[in-house]
Amino acid sequence: FLEVIMKKILVILLIIVFACSLFVLSACEKDKKTVLYVYTESGFPPFEYSKGDEIVGVDIEIAKAIAKELGMELVVRDVMFDSIVSGINEDNAIGLAGITITPDREQAVDFSIPYFGDAIQYVIYPKGALELNDELMIEGDLLKNKVLGVQTGTTGDNIVQVEVKEGGLFAGATAKGYDNALIAADDIGSGCDYVVIDRLTALQIAAANNNLEASQIAGLDAESYGIAVKKGNKVLLNAINWILHNLLEEGKIDQWLEEHSESIEE
Ligand code: ARG
Repeated sequence: FLEVIMKKILVILLIIVFACSLFVLSACEKDKKTVLYVYTESGFPPFEYSKGDEIVGVDIEIAKAIAKELGMELVVRDVMFDSIVSGINEDNAIGLAGITITPDREQAVDFSIPYFGDAIQYVIYPKGALELNDELMIEGDLLKNKVLGVQTGTTGDNIVQVEVKEGGLFAGATAKGYDNALIAADDIGSGCDYVVIDRLTALQIAAANNNLEASQIAGLDAESYGIAVKKGNKVLLNAINWILHNLLEEGKIDQWLEEHSESIEE
């Protein structure tokens, strides 16, 4: 009798051990999926913005497509914009934050092919506060001696810092740094006069605020966005370029721009 019970216990034990090892194995299998870290700064609609406690936007759609294609697990990290380019030190990390491809940044990271080429600096201002020229742009002269809010570390920040100098487009103006353009725009009329930021973000912010409008600043160059990878990480860069190429070809990026820009009117 005792032997029968012992046998039964043994069988049950064996089943438990088998089930446990299966469980551990499948957990390992999941862990094997490498993480793709995507560094971004979420105050930049329509490329990245918060919706509830989720970060969404065109760049996040691109990130999802890349992770899916590479069979990686996507982890989005929302950080200060000026820490992104210098912070891409891991082989499985990318910067996807509407980052303009510039020679300076190319010293620190490698960039993908451009995935958006229709960026240029805009100014956000109280409705009616600035007059447009014949080309429906704002002349730099109108920004002279003003306090210009910028997102710290952006191309807008760099341009303003250069142009506020003597002989510059907005000579005598002051650059005031903020964590992002949404925060800067909230400060118009109290901490700053106007905000300088990329076109679509400026239009989106103005569209969401009855008292603000946004227009292009005359005399500046167009900018293109690329994905930043660690310098020399050719394998990831080539894969990303191939995925971007296909997304562009399939019209996906245009589709996502439309989906995430609904409030923009031009
Ligand atoms: N295109 C500009 C730059 O590269 C602004 C990007 C801001 N991006 C953001 N996610 N906040 O400097």
